[in-house]
Amino acid sequence: MLFRNRFLLLLALAALLAFVSLSLQFFHLIPVSVAKNGVNGKSRKRIMPDPVTEPPVMDPVYEALLYCNIPSVAERSMEGHAPHHFKLVSVHVFIRHGDRYPLYVIPKTKRPEIDCTLVANRKPYHPKLEAFVSHMAKGSGASLESPLHSLPLYPSHPLCEMGELTQTGVVQHLQNGQLLRDIYLKKHKLLPGDWSTDQLYLETTGKSRTLQSGLALLYGFLPDFDWKKIYFRHQPSALFCSGNCYCPVRNQYLEKEQRRQYLLRLKNSQLEKTYGEMARIVDIPTKQLRAANPIDSMLCHFCHNVSFPCTKNGCIDMEHFKVIKMHQIEDERERQEKKLYLGYALLGAHPILNQTVGRMQRAAEGRREELFALYSAHDVTLSPVLSALGLTEARFPRFAARLIFELWQDREKPSEHAVRILYNGVDVTFHTSFCQDHHKRSPKPMCPLENLVRFVKRDMFVALGGTTNYYDACHREGV
Ligand SMILES: *[C@@H]1O[C@H](CO)[C@@H](O)[C@H](O)[C@H]1NC(C)=O
Ligand SMILES: *[C@@H]1O[C@H](CO)[C@@H](O)[C@H](O)[C@H]1NC(C)=O
Repeated sequence: MLFRNRFLLLLALAALLAFVSLSLQFFHLIPVSVAKNGVNGKSRKRIMPDPVTEPPVMDPVYEALLYCNIPSVAERSMEGHAPHHFKLVSVHVFIRHGDRYPLYVIPKTKRPEIDCTLVANRKPYHPKLEAFVSHMAKGSGASLESPLHSLPLYPSHPLCEMGELTQTGVVQHLQNGQLLRDIYLKKHKLLPGDWSTDQLYLETTGKSRTLQSGLALLYGFLPDFDWKKIYFRHQPSALFCSGNCYCPVRNQYLEKEQRRQYLLRLKNSQLEKTYGEMARIVDIPTKQLRAANPIDSMLCHFCHNVSFPCTKNGCIDMEHFKVIKMHQIEDERERQEKKLYLGYALLGAHPILNQTVGRMQRAAEGRREELFALYSAHDVTLSPVLSALGLTEARFPRFAARLIFELWQDREKPSEHAVRILYNGVDVTFHTSFCQDHHKRSPKPMCPLENLVRFVKRDMFVALGGTTNYYDACHREGV
């Protein structure tokens, strides 16, 4: 329990540091620490005394703010930390795109008025914003694999289009890039001064928001963003499963998981009542309102401080928002407990984990290619990877979330390599299923690469009922 609690706390603290205290004040959300001597009603143990910590009970508004990930001035992070005799060999970064305009509209209401042009006099701002725009405006030449070259390189619509990256989203990733640059390039010299195309591996799905997020991160990361040295590959699948996407058993798990989701929703009478009220306000059948996935649009209102829509029948309000958001949180919790999603996640994440392990092994053998890999992806990419790694306490991927795999070499024993896993700047290595027992078994301070390799090549299938490889696990009968 201690570990679980500490993990929650660390995640929360890291996420909290991501806010300007101003934005917290604005949202009237500076949580008051009610805990005395480290214990409170909902038994979340506070290990470090801190005036700004998690609220004592699950708070949907607080959770939603973490999800928005409003950019802050300084973020503390644990990337790049290792004993001094370890040398950084390669880094593999998975990101979720930054803040975006909704993918769905609430029927019969006005769309939120968000401006997706990038301008200096709007917050949030980053000092590299204008330089990013002018550099992108020069065009990409041959740097993007088809069909990526048909996408715009930065957001530009005065009224955002559906799913378009916003200025907030760009700033989030410029910041991610700058943070990683300070750690990996300036401090650890991951790339040589004369780095070449081969030393980066870049891949994105075919949405403008993922491509643009990847470009913003790279622009913040690289000391010289030379289009001639950039090559972005296109990934057609949100699971990044490339040539290994066909997996019938994975789909069976997904269907069962969706069934679980549906049953949980039916049990929540407050949720049904809320959908009913909202449907009355916008004057459509409840079913239609629910199908329009209103939380997606409401989160945009919330993250951008735009009031929820009204009609002549009334307004959608914060109470509706809280009920739906709270249900999402409960759904996440049950999802982790019921393990159907785990089956889906293990099979869904295997191809990309396998690819990453392959890259790490080549780097460990001394190959100097693909030292920095960036996968610009979605919540539906990061979420299965987190679950597959056993990080069940991790929060659902917020906007501009980052999950990082670091590979280190022990200079004292050059044949030995170690991995670190970081989620939003928090070191979660020893919470993964392949390294959580490490300290009990080994005096080594770092998690050996072999642990990850063994997990990805074999152990992750054992959890799926005795198979030993991806193909068998995907085609097993009678799940
Ligand atoms: C949020 O909106 C309110 C009114 O709609 C306004 O008074 C306030 O200044 C806004 N806050 C921020 C941080 O934009
Ligand atoms: C795993 O990676 C190896 C190379 O490292 C490759 O040969 C194999 O096809 C991959 N398997 C899957 C299922 O992705």
